[in-house]
Amino acid sequence: MSITFDEEHAVFSLETPATSYIIAVVDGFVGHAYYGKKVSGSDAAYLLRTNEPPFVPSKNERERLSFYDSFPWEYPCGGIGDFRESALCVRTAQGHNAVCLRYVSHSITPGAAELEGLPAVTGTAGDCATLSLLCRDDVTGLEVTLLYTVYEHIDAVARAVRIVNNGTEPLYLTKALSAAFDTDNRDFDLVTLHGSWARERHICRRPVMPGTQGVCSVRGEDSHQEHPFMAVCAHNADDDSGDVYGFSFVYSGNFTAVAQADQFGSVRLLMGINPESFCWKLEAGGCFTCPQVVLACSSEGFNGMSHIYHDLYRAHLIRGEYKDKMRPVLINNWEATYFNFDTDKLVSIAKEAAEDGIEMLVMDDGWFGKRNSDDCSLGDWNVNEAKLPGGLSRLVSEVNKLGMKFGIWFEPEMISPDSSLYRAHPDWAIAVPGRTAGLSRCQYVLDLSRPEVEAYAYNSVASVLRSANIEYVKWDMNRQLADIGSASLPPDRQGELFHRYVLAVYRMQERLITEFPHLLLENCSGGGARFDPAMLYYSPQIWCSDDTDAVERLAIQEGTALVYPLSSMGAHVSTCPNHACGRITPFKTRGYVALAGTFGYELDITKIPAEDRSLIPGQIALYKKFNALVRTGDYYRVASYSRNNEYDCWECVNKDKSEALVTFVQVLNNPNYHSRKICFKGLDPDKTYAVSYPDDEQEKRSMPSVFTGSMLMNAGYTIPRMWGDFQAKLIYIRETES
Ligand code: GLA
Repeated sequence: MSITFDEEHAVFSLETPATSYIIAVVDGFVGHAYYGKKVSGSDAAYLLRTNEPPFVPSKNERERLSFYDSFPWEYPCGGIGDFRESALCVRTAQGHNAVCLRYVSHSITPGAAELEGLPAVTGTAGDCATLSLLCRDDVTGLEVTLLYTVYEHIDAVARAVRIVNNGTEPLYLTKALSAAFDTDNRDFDLVTLHGSWARERHICRRPVMPGTQGVCSVRGEDSHQEHPFMAVCAHNADDDSGDVYGFSFVYSGNFTAVAQADQFGSVRLLMGINPESFCWKLEAGGCFTCPQVVLACSSEGFNGMSHIYHDLYRAHLIRGEYKDKMRPVLINNWEATYFNFDTDKLVSIAKEAAEDGIEMLVMDDGWFGKRNSDDCSLGDWNVNEAKLPGGLSRLVSEVNKLGMKFGIWFEPEMISPDSSLYRAHPDWAIAVPGRTAGLSRCQYVLDLSRPEVEAYAYNSVASVLRSANIEYVKWDMNRQLADIGSASLPPDRQGELFHRYVLAVYRMQERLITEFPHLLLENCSGGGARFDPAMLYYSPQIWCSDDTDAVERLAIQEGTALVYPLSSMGAHVSTCPNHACGRITPFKTRGYVALAGTFGYELDITKIPAEDRSLIPGQIALYKKFNALVRTGDYYRVASYSRNNEYDCWECVNKDKSEALVTFVQVLNNPNYHSRKICFKGLDPDKTYAVSYPDDEQEKRSMPSVFTGSMLMNAGYTIPRMWGDFQAKLIYIRETES
């Protein structure tokens, strides 16, 4: 990794192992010269095309606007004549909106950029270096620092922006995006992750068309529907080849991700906080920091891009005790009991679970206030002793006596109208005065922009954790934000509420993991509506989706794993017919699919069929045997049921290519067909491997079981035929003596 500045040509070169990111300054304007496969030579400023019409303003003042409208900006600003989408717009005290940034100075420092109050990728001087490019607009006094962190071993560039009002009057930021990327359109496709509740993050790919396209959220969280990620790729890029540029937003609130193809065959990509409903008052001297966007560039297709994100997020984003540790196998009572449980029921589940080797009981929603359904008590975080006589201390000690850990569910950001909290503080709910706020799941959202509300919400969680030996928290968030109004913010700061809310969530979670450093935190939002890199900064795992059906999970986990390491994907084996879609799949297949994430159970173990139950110890043994490989290895998408409509296949290969685990799911059987030949990936062509079925010692095949890596990868391996739909195979590949 290196960041260099060629003073003669005013060119910055940011180098990662396989890529170059080049910035050039002309006439004081900061331009984007190149990003892609590594190039050498520093005179890259010609790539800005400023030696052709309309030239730079110093050579051709009469066409200044044409220059603005075609120059590849590092950080385009609104109001001056670049008529494409901008990254920064303001409203000054006089009501004007123009900003024009010119280069002032720069610094190159070892380590990662720290972003006040915001999650961001980390790294020491040995891991990464940061370029800070200071720009100024002389008229408004705005000083904007563009931050770029590049890594020694990972092909990622993490970008952020710091904006300081060095003028004498306050101004308003009406749009402050985090990253822009201007490039020639090389027949790009746009890839995003689209979904719904129970169908999160399905991969969606379409050509970039002239004009503006993209995805966004105005729901106050990432949302089930769209995701704070986009990629552009060459039209012929696939899982293993072709240029891919990923953009992953380290943020948990409203976002925008835009691709705009312009009149000159260029594309501008933009990502940041959604400007809709956003207006931030920046006092003279005030500073606003835009959250980070992580760019990943691979010429090895989508698997290459996934490796970059997985390696970066595992090593430089996820923190805490469980960062590099196998997580305890848990059993969660939500799908087992919903609200209908008491201490005896939970202990009976825990008892049988412990016998099978399950290590932690998680008590989900319904333990507090008078909550027996989802229509009350959020905010009243006192134990319901009618359900849990003797309180948490008794329940937790019963569970601990079984040798199990205990975990608990919270939804700290919410308030039910039917709660003591709401009766005492109706103004703590987000609402517009004079307008009846809309309910969702019969609840309102707490106005976390108020320090006293944030303190209450934090202490509600912390005091429960202080009261018993609780080793895991599921932090849920079950509705979107609407009727945006805070009873405490002045009129000209109401546009700050969405972002202030997100900052408060970050502060609370930071406090939580600081006060309880051994806690395993799992974020959740009605399933996977807040599965993002920012949440991973606080919790090493996030509940992927309320849909635990093994088949539905294939597309959900495929889309999630495009960006996020398998170590972060909350995945459980649940009962059938599945509660989200009614499908019946074999228990074995459910287990294999959940092994691709943080493994656990979400069922009433006292009631499931004995045949299923008998498989649990074996599944846990598989989890323990293969978790290190799944958690730390390179993930490869081998085949996609979403694309071929018949079968799914993924693979995890350890870093030295001595071991791999392949999961193959035959979703639909194809009658009168021969065995399916699959080319494995990521192995060493020259190594010799033994192939076995760790969960199926009986699997006998009249074919060799030892192969060269080149045979397995280039010629392929024939998957044993299986009878029926929803069948699966786990295949273990281990280096052996040739
Ligand atoms: C959300 C979560 C579920 C469960 C319920 C409890 O929907 O995603 O896993 O915790 O809330 O109300």
